This record gives sequence, C-alpha cells and structure tokens, in this order.
Amino acid sequence: MTILDGRKMSNIIKDEIAQEVQKIKEKGEKVPHLAAIIVGEDPASQSYVRSKDRACKRVGFESTIINPPATISEEDLISQIEKLNRDKNIDGFIVQLPLPDHIDEQKVLMLIDPDKDVDGFHPMNFGKMALDLPSFIPATPFGILELLKRYEIPTQGKNTVVIGRSHIVGRPMSILMSRKDNPGNSTVTVTHRHTKNLKEICLNADILIVAIGSADFLTEDMVKDGAVVIDVGINRVEDANAKRGYVLKGDVDFEKVKKKASFITPVPGGVGPMTVTMLMKNTLLARQKHQK
Ligand code: GUN
Repeated sequence: MTILDGRKMSNIIKDEIAQEVQKIKEKGEKVPHLAAIIVGEDPASQSYVRSKDRACKRVGFESTIINPPATISEEDLISQIEKLNRDKNIDGFIVQLPLPDHIDEQKVLMLIDPDKDVDGFHPMNFGKMALDLPSFIPATPFGILELLKRYEIPTQGKNTVVIGRSHIVGRPMSILMSRKDNPGNSTVTVTHRHTKNLKEICLNADILIVAIGSADFLTEDMVKDGAVVIDVGINRVEDANAKRGYVLKGDVDFEKVKKKASFITPVPGGVGPMTVTMLMKNTLLARQKHQK
C-alpha cells in the first residue's frame, strides 16, 4: 500500500511554479496576482483562505484578501466582483464558498470573468471542461488528477466510482475521469444519497473517490482489495483531548481501509494541499494567458 503524499507532491509542484515566477521576474513582467473574496467569518473558510494566502507567498505571487461581513448585500458583493473583473492587476480571483443564505451563489459565480475564474466554476469553464476544451479545471479535481498522474496510477479502462455529486468536486471529477485523456478513459459511476446498493457498487470500483463530507463514511467492507482510494473529506470531529477541541477526519475510515487499498490519500496531507497548489497553478495559467 502506498500513501499518496499530497504535501510532498504539492511542494514539488509549488517549487515548479516558483521557478516559473522567477522566469517571469527575469523578463521584467508582472508576477501573478490572486485575489480571494471571503464573506463573513466561517472558521473553515477563513482557514482555507489563509492557506491560499500562504501558498501565494510561498510561490512568489501577489495575494489580496477581501473580507466583507456576512451581512453584505448581494448587490454590494456583485460590485466587488465587477471591480475585480476590471482590475488589470488581478489575474484571477475566487469567491470562497459557501456564501450566506441571502446570496444567490450561482448568480454570483456567473458574474466572474471566465478568464479570471481560477476556480473553474463559471458555466463557460465548466462547459469547456465537459467538451475537452482548454479551460480552468476546479482545483480539487485538478489536484486529484495530478496525484494520479504523478504517482503513475493507471486509469484507462478502470471502474471509477465517485461518491458525491457536488459542483466543486464530485460532478467535475466524474466528467474528468471519463474524458479521453490520461488520467481519464475510465468507466465512471456517480453515486449520491439516492443510490441503491452503494456497497455493491463500491466493491466493483478500481478507483474510489469520496467527497461527501461525512467522517469515516467509507468503511473497509465497501472496498475491493487493491483499490485506489481518494478521500476528499475534511471533517472537524469534536475531540475533548485535542488541543483545538476537534480533530480532522476524512470521509474514509483510513486506518481500516488502508489495509485493503493499493494507494490511499490521508487526511490531512492528501487532497487538501493539492487543492491549494492547483489554485496556484491555475493562477499562473491565467497570468500566462493574460500576458499573451
Ligand atoms: N469551498 C470549498 N472548496 C472551495 C473551493 O475550491 N473554492 C471555493 N471558492 N470555495 C470552496
């Protein structure tokens, strides 16, 4: 069994990006600049945005965080987005999700300039992705593809089962794994809360990708010997003995499932660091596109 080390891999990729930034500087061009809008004070979202900010500094990007209060009106949030769309200094930006209930998420995401949509959530980018056209690929699925590629895990002709159909992970992942590409060319089954016989379906999977946000959901009786297991969940589980009062757990019962898997991602240190790094990659791609 091999642990897919997302920290190690993301450090390698960040070094590659930092080298590209060096070349940009040597040419006297502007370094990539990523902005993030984070509405309100949700601790998990704040923590994600901080890690994005740290990653920007690590690779040599400029980084701007805009943090309006949770009470911001939809109209004011939209003007912030329009401002970033117009700002020639900003190569790419993200609107951290989830947004407060009074704001229409789809409406907001639709207003991001597709050329600056480094999260790849705009229907233009999502549609291009589904049509095998060049586009920004959402960072978490992009990170999973990169892990599969760099660990040279074959996907062609394999049965891939994706648990969860979120717009951020499950849905794009299912599209990407079936594309005519490497990684890709696999036979994909997407499962969700209405799926019957989930265990049977999972037992047929060569590659299992779990993205539902439910701690320890995937148990060892659902995993075939030798399967590749990708855990996207980051769940805070209360633990009085932990320093912060909680521990981070994935959607996979790691200790038991690892005995069956051929490859498995840990939580933390698997998919999470890759997500942040691939956002950096998309921002670099945005800069290179804007430079042309
Ligand atoms: N919330 C959880 N994951 C993500 C992500 O990848 N991008 C944004 N914008 N919000 C998220």
